[in-house]
Amino acid sequence: MAQYRLDRLLAEAAGIPRAEARRAILKGQVALDGAVCRRPDQKAQDTAALALAGRPLRWQKYVYLMLDKPQGVVSASRDGRDTTVADLVRAQYPRRELFPAGRLDKDSTGFVLLTDDGAFAHAILSPRRHVPKTYRVELDTPVTPAMVTAFAQGVTLADGQAMKPADLIPDPENPLAATVVLHQGVYHQIKRMFGVLDAGVNELHRQAIGGLALDPALAPGQWRPITEEELARLAPGGQNA
Ligand code: URA
Repeated sequence: MAQYRLDRLLAEAAGIPRAEARRAILKGQVALDGAVCRRPDQKAQDTAALALAGRPLRWQKYVYLMLDKPQGVVSASRDGRDTTVADLVRAQYPRRELFPAGRLDKDSTGFVLLTDDGAFAHAILSPRRHVPKTYRVELDTPVTPAMVTAFAQGVTLADGQAMKPADLIPDPENPLAATVVLHQGVYHQIKRMFGVLDAGVNELHRQAIGGLALDPALAPGQWRPITEEELARLAPGGQNA
């Protein structure tokens, strides 16, 4: 069992910035093992009972975050050159080794799930679980009925790999835009599928993983903890697994 500063424990458990946690402690809003504690540097076990403004908080063994990945950020834990999705949250979780459960290309945007729970990540990425991923795409050419049919039948990539059937739903208001739902995750899959159909992808944004949509209140680069109820929708054995 590890010991940590109270402000750090609170920030992690409540999903709030460290400065906000510190202020709450100084204001006497935080109870540690049932007693108000006004010292942000108080050392406490990571299993200690915390309450914020009377609301009990559970120390989470693992962290699960939804991040709106901006363009130019790489889906990795660390990278010698580029900013990574894990870099965006590291200040809040300095001692956790968070990694993305599934990748988005550097120029793609949208929902990246960050966690330190390897078994969970493995399960939601496992081809056997079929957790669908939903994307909005913008092409350099109009979406055609032939493309919709090709996606539904399963596109064969240029290297001969046969993709599983996928949904391509044209946007009735924008001929260049569509929603794509994939049931597998192959490197550059959407770009390569459109590539064999002679269409280029100008924009690619992941909107949902399983039944969990990216929170529209998040701006690019922002993130928030995934609630337990949301997690249950994603979790293996849950309704979307
Ligand atoms: N397919 C792609 O081509 N790129 C992504 O980032 C995700 C799916």
